[in-house]
Amino acid sequence: MLKQYLVLTLLSIATLAHGNDIAKEPDTLTNWFQNLSVAKEKVTQLQLYVQDILTGPTPTTIPVANANSTFTSPTLFGLVAVLDDPVRIAPSPDSEIVARARGFFAYSSLEEISIHMTFNLVFTSGEYNGSALSLVGHNPYLHEFRELPVVGGSGAFRLARGVALVRTVLLNATTGDAFFQYNVTVLHY
Ligand SMILES: *[C@@H]1O[C@H](CO)[C@@H](O)[C@H](O)[C@H]1NC(C)=O
Ligand SMILES: *[C@@H]1O[C@H](CO)[C@@H](O)[C@H](O)[C@H]1NC(C)=O
Ligand SMILES: *[C@@H]1O[C@H](CO)[C@@H](O)[C@H](O)[C@H]1NC(C)=O
Ligand SMILES: *[C@@H]1O[C@H](CO)[C@@H](O)[C@H](O)[C@H]1NC(C)=O
Ligand SMILES: *[C@@H]1O[C@H](CO)[C@@H](O)[C@H](O)[C@H]1NC(C)=O
Repeated sequence: MLKQYLVLTLLSIATLAHGNDIAKEPDTLTNWFQNLSVAKEKVTQLQLYVQDILTGPTPTTIPVANANSTFTSPTLFGLVAVLDDPVRIAPSPDSEIVARARGFFAYSSLEEISIHMTFNLVFTSGEYNGSALSLVGHNPYLHEFRELPVVGGSGAFRLARGVALVRTVLLNATTGDAFFQYNVTVLHY
C-alpha cells in the first residue's frame, strides 16, 4: 500500500513538473491544482537582460501619458509608459532573445526618480517558451540594486513567487537606451 502510494506520488510530481504548457482546457487546470497536494516546490534561478530602447525607428518603451505638471516635476511625476522590451541572454543587441518584458510603468514618486512597474516576462523560446512571470514593484532605477517582487506566473510558472534583483549594466547617456540585468529567483512547482 505504502509502496503504491509512493509510486503514485512520484508519478504525480513528475507529471506536474512537466506541465509547462498553458492549459488548453479547464480540466487540465483542475487536475493540476488537485495534484498540488503531492507536488514539491522548486527554486529556479534565471539571469536575463532586459533591453530598453527609447530612441530610433523602433523604440520598445514609449511614453503614453503625462500630467500638465510632469515635465516641470523633478521626478517626472505622472509620466506613464508602455514597454515591450526584448529580453536577452547577454547584455548585447546581438544576443539571443528568450522573452519579452511587456507591461507598463509610471513615475510615481514626488521625492525621487522612481517608477512603479507592472509587467510580464513572456518567454518566447527555450524551456519556458509560452510561460510567463508577473512582476509588480517599485523601481528607483538610479539606485544600483533594485528588488522587484515576482507575484505570479503562468504555464511552468503557475503560482510562482519570488524576487528579481535588478541592476543597470549598460546605459547610453545620449539616447537613454539601456540593458538591465535581472537575476530572477522563483519558487514554483
Ligand atoms: C495529475 O496527476 C495524475 C496522476 O499522476 C496524472 O495522470 C495527471 O496527468 C496529472 N495532471 C496534471 C495536470 O498534472
Ligand atoms: C492642462 O493644460 C491645458 C493647456 O494649458 C489646460 O487646458 C488644462 O486645463 C490643464 N489641465 C489640468 C488638469 O490642469
Ligand atoms: C515558442 O512557442 C511558440 C508557440 O507554441 C512556437 O510557435 C515557437 O516556434 C516557439 N519558439 C521557439 C524558439 O521554440
Ligand atoms: C546576478 O548574478 C551574477 C552572478 O552571480 C552577479 O555577478 C550579478 O552581480 C548579479 N546581478 C544582480 C543584479 O543581482
Ligand atoms: C549611444 O547611442 C548613439 C546613437 O545611437 C551612438 O552613436 C553612440 O555610439 C552610443 N554610445 C555608446 C557608448 O554606445
